[in-house]
Formats: sequence, structure tokens, C-alpha cells
Amino acid sequence: MPPRTGRGSDARRTRPCGSPPPRQPSLARGPPRNSCRESPLARDGGIPFRRGVQTSCSSSVDAAISRVTVDSNHLPYYRFGLRRQHSTPVRDRSSPRECLIASKPEDGKPMTVKLALVGCGAISEWHRRGLESVPEIEITTAVDVDAARAEAVAEKTGATVFTSLDAALEKGDFDAVDLMLPHHLHEALAIQALDAGKHVLLEKPMAPTVAACDRILAAAANSDRVFMIGENSQYWPEILIIRDLIEAGAIGDVVTARVQLFFPPMPAFYGGDKPWRMERAAAGGGISMDTGSHYIRPLRIWLGEIDSVVAAMERPYAPMEAESLTRALFRFQSGVVVSFDLLLTAAPMAPQDLFRITGTDGEITLGARVKLYDTDHRGGTVVREDEPQGYMLSYAGQFADFARAVLDGKPLEAGAEVAVGELRTALAMERSAKSLRWEKVWD
Ligand SMILES: NC(=O)c1ccc[n+]([C@@H]2O[C@H](COP(=O)([O-])OP(=O)(O)OC[C@H]3O[C@@H](n4cnc5c(N)ncnc54)[C@H](O)[C@@H]3O)[C@@H](O)[C@H]2O)c1
Repeated sequence: MPPRTGRGSDARRTRPCGSPPPRQPSLARGPPRNSCRESPLARDGGIPFRRGVQTSCSSSVDAAISRVTVDSNHLPYYRFGLRRQHSTPVRDRSSPRECLIASKPEDGKPMTVKLALVGCGAISEWHRRGLESVPEIEITTAVDVDAARAEAVAEKTGATVFTSLDAALEKGDFDAVDLMLPHHLHEALAIQALDAGKHVLLEKPMAPTVAACDRILAAAANSDRVFMIGENSQYWPEILIIRDLIEAGAIGDVVTARVQLFFPPMPAFYGGDKPWRMERAAAGGGISMDTGSHYIRPLRIWLGEIDSVVAAMERPYAPMEAESLTRALFRFQSGVVVSFDLLLTAAPMAPQDLFRITGTDGEITLGARVKLYDTDHRGGTVVREDEPQGYMLSYAGQFADFARAVLDGKPLEAGAEVAVGELRTALAMERSAKSLRWEKVWD
């Protein structure tokens, strides 16, 4: 049975991911489908997305849109996002981060999480920038087998450098690790860190196989530490806006949706002599398992659990050993069928919408920004103007969630076990590309 992606998944609770298929639960929170419902934020006196709109319950679609709100849990992420351009000097005692670090815990509880960045490659810079907005986490340690990479992080953060996790665990000063490593190393280093009593934030995918995920989840279950998967799309503001629009009934019942991501091999991630990402043995698969997870999770948040998939996979990008083109259909447990297209290409490309969600009463698109098309806005209306392309804000949200789980014991927005669903979907697509049949996601 797949776990919930919704709010309040228990940070420490795990379940075997090899268990039988779900007949239920939607990972989505059960859209009210045109019903009139009080939003959580309206109850909490929160702020609606669109300025100057009322929050009263009305049957008109416009009123439904106006009630679309960010859950109060997510508001800090937006605040962090607004501050994201302002880098916090590490030794500036007037900054919120330094105030927190300098102050004494009142009840003996630590007020900050001391974090080791393990793997100081491409994504570590995005993480570091996200962490600038999260004063509850202090980077104390940088670990990379390539010392120059760890030192580059240390220059920006004041972290102590190590060239192996072994050495860092022996001599370093940190409570938690942020593991950003080639996929084939995830299992060994995550289990090592958990066994050493560290809280673990592990980049997606949890591991390249379901069996490896089971072993990591078992290690997490045996520890009393927080274990989280860094599926940052769980905190992508536009994805949450669309979730709330769907729940508010802005497009009626969802009929279908489309994901289309044609993306270039960014040098930071695909450059160098022999990037591990191109090798099946290190990456575990191709673009569906890697980049695909950030586009599968939103679909699960909006539409619930995926039942089965059918896919074709090709290798148009020659350096990549596994697939660099995926054309797939997902059938959700609800019966909704969604198309899912990913392509890695160095060729020039036309502008595209990443997501298109079609309902009985309208459509929502996400390209550079979220747009709604309905009977009142046949030409489309921009739902949120002030912060287009909030993808980069998702990292701050991810770390804020991790900090709350470590410091306050709060449940994560989505438990680690949820991430097995994206892996299972990618593996089912691979099976389908070989079998030429629909393949079940949950065995
Ligand atoms: N969330 C996202 O948006 C996103 C984007 C890109 C990558 N990722 C994920 O982040 C992880 C890392 O990807 P990347 O693109 O940063 O890779 P990368 O190759 O740029 O960085 C990996 C780093 O790990 C180091 N390393 C290798 N073995 C090590 C070991 N045993 N101990 C310590 N360091 C070691 C390498 O020297 C390298 O610096 C992967 O899981 C990937 O899927 C996530």
C-alpha cells in the first residue's frame, strides 16, 4: 500500500515498500470537486494568494479561486523565498541565523541543527542557497572525496572539511547529514549515517531499487532519528497553488493532465569527463528515475496514487546509457489517465508548459507561471503574479520541514516512504518499455 504524500506523515514511521498494491488512498487529499469548503488558511486567518480578494464561500469559480490559499504550514517557505536574494554572511551576528546560533537554549533543547553537507557537487550549491533562508540549520561540515569541492563549500560557509563520511563521523561536529551523492552510494552512506545516530536528509531517489529502499527504511525504523527524502517538488510553491486550485474546484473534476519536460543537459549536472549520471550502474536508470521524480510527485499530490503505466523509452541523447526519452501514460487509481513526456536534448527548444491539468470546467497550466482557464477567463488568467518559477524556493521549504522534524519532532510533509512511489513508477515504466504492456506500479 502506498504511503500518503499529504501533510503530517510521520517522520520516523516507515513501511515496507514491497507491500501489495493499494486499493485506496489517494495521496491527494480528496478534492471537494466543486463543493464549497472552508480552507484551512481561512480558518487560521491566513493570507489568500491573490491580493484583494474575499474568502467567502460562493458557488462561482472566481470565488473558488479567491479561496485558494497556501496552508499556513507553507507560509514560511514563501517568506524565506522573498529573502532568498539576500545572502547571510556566516559571521554576521545581527542576522537571524547568528542570533539563533548565539542564543542559549531555554529548555535544554537545541535551537539549531548542525548539518554536514555530504557530496559537494552540483546540487549542493542549490541546497546551500536554500539553507541561507533557514536559520534553524547551520552548515558546520563539508564532506567530499574531492577535497577541492568540499573546500569550495567551506569558503562560503565556514564549514570544516573532510574527505570521507568515516572521517567526518569520527571527528566532525554535526547532528544531521544532507547526502547528495551518486545514486549507487545512497544506501551505504544513508545506513552508515543512521547507524551513527545522525538525522538524515537523503537526495532522491532513495535508492535505485525497491529492495535497497526497504533496507534503508528498515535502518531508519531502527533508529530514533529523522529520515527524509529530498523530493523538493513537495515544497514547490506553484505545485501547492495548483493543489489548492484543484481542491477548490476551480476546474471541476480532473479529466486528464499532461507533463511535458524537454530539458537540456546543464553542464553542472551533465558536464565533465564521465558524469556518473550517464552510467546506468551509478545512476540506476535514466531520466525517468532521476529528473522524473520531480514531475511524478506533483501528479501524486494532485491526483492520488498511480495504478499502472505504459511507456516507450529511447536513447536519443547518445552519451546517456539508459533512456533519455520517455513517452508514457499513467492510469491513476481514480481512473484518470495522464500523459508523461520527458526528453533530455541539447537541441534548441520551443517554450512549453510543464504541466497542463484539464478538468470538466477548465484548465490549469504551469509554464513560467500558473494560469487558469475557465468560463470567466477563456483567454486565461495568471493566478499568481508576484513569484513566477518558484522551483528554487522549494529547497528552503524542504529544509524548514527537516528542521521542524529534528528540532520539534513535527511530522514531515511527506514521510520518506512516499518517495518509493516515484521510484516504483520509474521502474514500472522501464518494465513496460520492455514488455510493451501496461505494468502495475505497486506489484
Ligand atoms: N532535487 C533536485 O532538484 C536534484 C537535482 C540534481 C541532483 N539531485 C540529486 O542529488 C544527488 C547528487 O547529484 P549531483 O548532481 O549533485 O551530483 P554531483 O556529481 O554533482 O555531486 C556528487 C558529489 O558527491 C561526491 N562523492 C562521490 N562519492 C562520495 C563519497 N563516497 N563521499 C563523499 N562524497 C562523494 C562527488 O565527488 C561529487 O562532488 C543525486 O541523488 C541526484 O539525483 C537532486
